Amino acid sequence: MKHGRKIVDYNDIESVMLKSGKIDIIRKIADFFKQNPEKYTHDFLMERYFINSFFPSFPSPAWSKLAESLGKIVHGERIPFQVDMVVTGDCHCSCWHCFRAKHDNQELSSEVIKKFMTQASELGTASIGITGGEPMLREDIVDIIQSIPDGMEGQLYTTGYRVDKDFVNSVKGTNLTRFIVSLDHYDENIMCKRRGHDHAFKDALNAIEILSEQNIYTAVTLCITDDLLNEDDIIKYFEFVSKSGGDEIRIILPIPQGNLEGKNYKRLYMNAMHVIKKFKNDHMHKADFPSIVLFSEYESQHRLGCGAGANYISLNNDGSITPCVAVPLVFGNIYESSLSEIYESMGAYFKNSGRTCYGKRMGKIMQEECVDTTITPLPLDVSLLLASKCVVDGEKADFFEKFAK
Ligand SMILES: C[S@@+](CC[C@H](N)C(=O)[O-])C[C@H]1O[C@@H](n2cnc3c(N)ncnc32)[C@H](O)[C@@H]1O
Ligand code: SF4
Repeated sequence: MKHGRKIVDYNDIESVMLKSGKIDIIRKIADFFKQNPEKYTHDFLMERYFINSFFPSFPSPAWSKLAESLGKIVHGERIPFQVDMVVTGDCHCSCWHCFRAKHDNQELSSEVIKKFMTQASELGTASIGITGGEPMLREDIVDIIQSIPDGMEGQLYTTGYRVDKDFVNSVKGTNLTRFIVSLDHYDENIMCKRRGHDHAFKDALNAIEILSEQNIYTAVTLCITDDLLNEDDIIKYFEFVSKSGGDEIRIILPIPQGNLEGKNYKRLYMNAMHVIKKFKNDHMHKADFPSIVLFSEYESQHRLGCGAGANYISLNNDGSITPCVAVPLVFGNIYESSLSEIYESMGAYFKNSGRTCYGKRMGKIMQEECVDTTITPLPLDVSLLLASKCVVDGEKADFFEKFAK
């Protein structure tokens, strides 16, 4: 366990949570976590708590803003409380699974990044992901991080490339509170081969070690593969992450876009839900073990559902606004229009958070419609036509239907 860290359970955090913002919606959030318990991290040097890498820490201005935005969503407003920014399409790796494989490698201008952050903040965004490509390839990455507005907390998605002590020191104390570092395997050769880069494994481990020394919340993320989904290998992977100093293990199931377009992972999904949920339950009360988060569980109908286009949007590296970082549909461009105009226009297709992954459903529709995906993101007219075949409107996930009403 990291110095300055303690894994805690629900009883330790309920009272802190209840003191941390608008009481009616916070009570509902607290009830939700009471029924869907997680292992929480207490950073007692900074006096803040982390549920997991999805949420800002609390108590904090970003947490209060999240509560305010959730309170409004419950009363029927559309608010993008989470956003991502693909600050560059450039990358030094060539991963087998990359959902961005068909995108170009241009960089967003630093002016448009700052404009997006300000406008998202005005719309009620509390959590912002900085991603790529590899965001650490940008020369001005420190400036971008230092520009995250107060009232928002950021997370950086990275391979660990160029994450050294100087970099970490320069972003400590900013509104970037979480790192999400990709680690695909406990075996160096396998990981480097999968990422098409000799240093992929060393970069990731080095970053996790430095972030751990510097007491920064670190989720280690894995796009799960068949070869790890057996009890021996998954335990070996989890124990490896635990020793390396990660606070959280975040498991993502393969998204069928980019290099994985048209693939069907139904069997893997069922198997992963079973194996990882069991492992998570077995390790729930082990204080010296990282928390385990299954992404698909979070965006399932039993939790928060999929916010794509309604409560979550993404800024692509060409300035276009997409409903999700992994969905190549375009609804406007921030170089030409304001974020609020584009977001409002998306309301016709994304009325509320859905119960299941929009990317998976849209992937199927794109395949059925034989959409030409040689170049992504897709043009506006094609995007609108596809979106009209998959309007999200109706029953919401349990958090919004059962708890927050
Ligand atoms: C697009 S990358 C950007 C940040 C950085 N380049 C990295 O790889 O960590 C963000 C995350 O998406 C994951 N990812 C990429 N393609 C995926 C796919 N088709 N399905 C699931 N996860 C994927 C990566 O493994 C990585 O953890
Ligand atoms: S997953 Fe990340 S590191 Fe791999 S090619 Fe895609 S953007 Fe680059």
